[in-house]
Amino acid sequence: MASPALISESEQWKDLKQHVSEIQTTHLRDLMNDVDRCQSMMVEYEGIFLDYSRQRVTKETMGKLFKLAEAAHLKEKIEKMYGGEKINSTENRSVLHVALRAAREKEIYSDGKNVVPEVWQVLDKIKDFSEKVRSGAWIGATGKPLKDVVSVGIGGSFLGPLFVHAALQTDAVAAEYAKGRQLRFLANVDPVDVARSIKDLDPETTLVVVVSKTFTTAETMLNARTLREWISSSLGAGAVAKHMVAVSTNLPLVKDFGIDPANAFAFWDWVGGRYSVCSAVGVLPLSLQYSFSVVEKFLEGARSIDNHFYSAPFESNIPVLVGLLSVWNVTFLGYPARAILPYSQALEKFAPHIQQLSMESNGKGVSIDGTPLPFEAGEIDFGEPGTNGQHSFYQLIHQGRVIPCDFIGAVRSQQPIYLKGEVVSNHDELMSNFFAQPDALAYGKNPDELLRDKVPDHLIPHKTFTGNRPSLSILLPSLSAYDVGQLLAIYEHRIAVQGFVWGINSFDQWGVELGKSLATQVRKQLHASRVDEKPVQGFNFSTTTLLSRFLEVRTPYDGTVLPKNVI
Ligand code: F6P
Repeated sequence: MASPALISESEQWKDLKQHVSEIQTTHLRDLMNDVDRCQSMMVEYEGIFLDYSRQRVTKETMGKLFKLAEAAHLKEKIEKMYGGEKINSTENRSVLHVALRAAREKEIYSDGKNVVPEVWQVLDKIKDFSEKVRSGAWIGATGKPLKDVVSVGIGGSFLGPLFVHAALQTDAVAAEYAKGRQLRFLANVDPVDVARSIKDLDPETTLVVVVSKTFTTAETMLNARTLREWISSSLGAGAVAKHMVAVSTNLPLVKDFGIDPANAFAFWDWVGGRYSVCSAVGVLPLSLQYSFSVVEKFLEGARSIDNHFYSAPFESNIPVLVGLLSVWNVTFLGYPARAILPYSQALEKFAPHIQQLSMESNGKGVSIDGTPLPFEAGEIDFGEPGTNGQHSFYQLIHQGRVIPCDFIGAVRSQQPIYLKGEVVSNHDELMSNFFAQPDALAYGKNPDELLRDKVPDHLIPHKTFTGNRPSLSILLPSLSAYDVGQLLAIYEHRIAVQGFVWGINSFDQWGVELGKSLATQVRKQLHASRVDEKPVQGFNFSTTTLLSRFLEVRTPYDGTVLPKNVI
């Protein structure tokens, strides 16, 4: 079968390429004066307000981007995804995270089977189990209720749930449900992370949730074995049944590990790890902490965006718009990075989650049919909550490299404070920055203005801001569980839009495999050297030298050692 043409061979792509030179002659300072243009670049859905007028685009650019979307068959690709077609072709899998938050009565098919009833079977099981644990009906091996949870997982089995947990922690409704309970995460195989995750926890009152899609991930499995030891050395091996549960697609391995299959919460291979926060991966630990009713609102928020993404015309479709703008910035304007800047401490773990979601999905060098890409795809995502970022890396964003920025803010604070006598409330102070920064980036400050401000000549180059630096602003009504679900789904779909247009597979991750297999070789060497005093061999000079140096400090393998200093 003839391979499909690369999108870069389409007329629409070439047209956009040519259009770049026109945009290079514009400055945002001028583009922002065109009110009609700006108005056409503001979109609202269910109170979520997107303003992309500070992107380096004209109405003409947008028209060309919509044509590119057509050439890339974006609509058809979205329909294929929702229709359960195996669009993850290298793994022969459907991509159905939308089914995880579908309404109970919805029908979504994979392999000819409606998957929604299975999804709700697991959700019902989580509701039942989490209510039992939260009410004290499920007790630990010594008869005490389990009030603390450690969720063990890495990558997609960690970052999404961590982001949502951080976001809900200070939401008044969610916080009320979480009173007296703790949710911790253990991701890194570094024993320091083990020590931190169980610091001040008592195995008698702790439930460990092992979260791993494959149940083979080296870091997670060693961490799970470590916490199993923590529980059984204190409460006896029989305690594991009451203190450990699992979330996985690999139920036989869960059983082999020693967790009762009745206490395993399933998900399916049509859920990509980084797209799994709405499966039991996120729903179980979050329901244990905040109750299923709160987490259900989060799922409903994601569902509302799923419906919007599927049905809204591209001109008013938030994930499509922000996805196309990222394609424009990365591939046509040549900006390799994107800064994610939430003006909310509650979203402090949003950027780390989007890093995996985006970079593992779109960090690809070949098209979906294996042809090397003759253009740059994917982007470098990073970010920090404003205003902390302002006092850290914004210098580079204002006067160094051009980094398109996503400013994310909320109309209402989760924790409003107003001090009598202050000019503004604390949230208004925060949001003053949210509104000011995009204009500072777009307009900059030129030498004439500096002269008028009587800036000495020798400082003018240093105080000049070139401006013309693109950003977009997303203003959410608040940061309830529902809003957080919406925000998550906007970014999930944005990343899919980018991948669909670039013509890559956003749902596999072969790039993580090589490092894993090399680590296996090192692991064997460390064992051989530590236990049998074998010399280092089979590595290049650099690695041999580093390993030999590392092995100079002898750490005998003579029994179980759990972190002592902190527990
Ligand atoms: O980093 C590679 C990866 O496979 C991610 O895609 C995934 O989220 C993570 O490892 C964890 O995998 P698992 O849930 O199977 O333990």
